[in-house]
Amino acid sequence: MEQRTLGRTGRPVSIVGLGTWQLGADWGEVSENDALAVLDASVDAGVTFFDTADVYGDGRSETVIGRYLAAHPDVNVTVATKMGRREAQDPANFTLAKFREWTDRSRRNLGVDRLDLVQLHCPPTPVFSSDEVYDALDTLVADGAIANYGVSVETTEEALAAIARPGTASVQIIFNAFRLKPLDEVLPAAREAGVGIIARVPLASGLLSGRYTTDTEFAENDHRTFNRDGSAFDVGETFSGVDFATGVRAATELSAFVPEGLTPAQAAIAWVTQQLGVSTVIPGARSIAQATSNATAGTTGALPQEYLDAVRSIYDTNFRAAIHDRW
Ligand SMILES: NC(=O)c1ccc[n+]([C@@H]2O[C@H](COP(=O)([O-])OP(=O)(O)OC[C@H]3O[C@@H](n4cnc5c(N)ncnc54)[C@H](OP(=O)(O)O)[C@@H]3O)[C@@H](O)[C@H]2O)c1
Repeated sequence: MEQRTLGRTGRPVSIVGLGTWQLGADWGEVSENDALAVLDASVDAGVTFFDTADVYGDGRSETVIGRYLAAHPDVNVTVATKMGRREAQDPANFTLAKFREWTDRSRRNLGVDRLDLVQLHCPPTPVFSSDEVYDALDTLVADGAIANYGVSVETTEEALAAIARPGTASVQIIFNAFRLKPLDEVLPAAREAGVGIIARVPLASGLLSGRYTTDTEFAENDHRTFNRDGSAFDVGETFSGVDFATGVRAATELSAFVPEGLTPAQAAIAWVTQQLGVSTVIPGARSIAQATSNATAGTTGALPQEYLDAVRSIYDTNFRAAIHDRW
């Protein structure tokens, strides 16, 4: 699979990585054996980038990755974790002392001395423009606790604020066929600055696989049940913030343009990798089959113009008015 340099980390990473929120919690039950098998299948298929967070399963996702890495010392994977959502979302909590406490826990969970990449995990907006926060992150790098830092953001404004900081190695943002806003300013600004872009939620929480209907039900402990109204966290993280029934209809419409030989999910993932400025895309997977199929999307050729045009027109018709100015 093609590797691209992940912004200022300087590290080569596969254009399709793996999101591991599913291996922690909030997506129904995934057993530890299945979680390890998903990591293994991804690496076998050429994935060299895992995204996790200290809060996924309150450390379960990190710990499973740590176990996998310990059992496979020859595997060369860059692991990005995130910090900051195990505490109240108060800007006053984003201090050097807290950063040390949080990264020490992640280092223990992952079984490493130095974290490859730590991302602020969608903190309150003022955190992205605090000099003290970036100074503290620089200190963690100088201490050797982390190799690089980046941010995960909800809005394009937050992304642009972080891209303007010289130490920001990468920005993680929601970007998919139902969320085109990053194309306007964020991707060009990141390219110009040499900041990596980690595209998350590429399948709009599975909608873009085209296999849900308006009758599809999700488990009680799945955020697609309990966060549809944004009561647990930003509603943009669940189905990319689009109305479920509209998303099901739009996904069906887009499926008609998927080139032969690809599934709708693979086309949706490939589309993200083929946008200028994207370093890697991190679909979440709950099974070996999903992980393998998603990694294969990193080896497809250029998508046909009809698919690209369909993405634009389906977005403009169904989503632009409702969400373009929201995130
Ligand atoms: N704030 C943040 O920083 C933040 C927020 C969200 C996500 N993330 C990261 O981004 C990653 C990706 O986002 P996401 O997991 O929320 O959304 P996503 O990748 O858009 O959707 C994942 C879901 O899509 C379905 N799927 C995956 N592969 C498939 C395939 N080959 N065929 C059919 N369906 C498939 C699965 O649904 P089923 O469960 O129905 O099988 C899976 O749970 C996460 O794992 C996490 O690492 C970060």
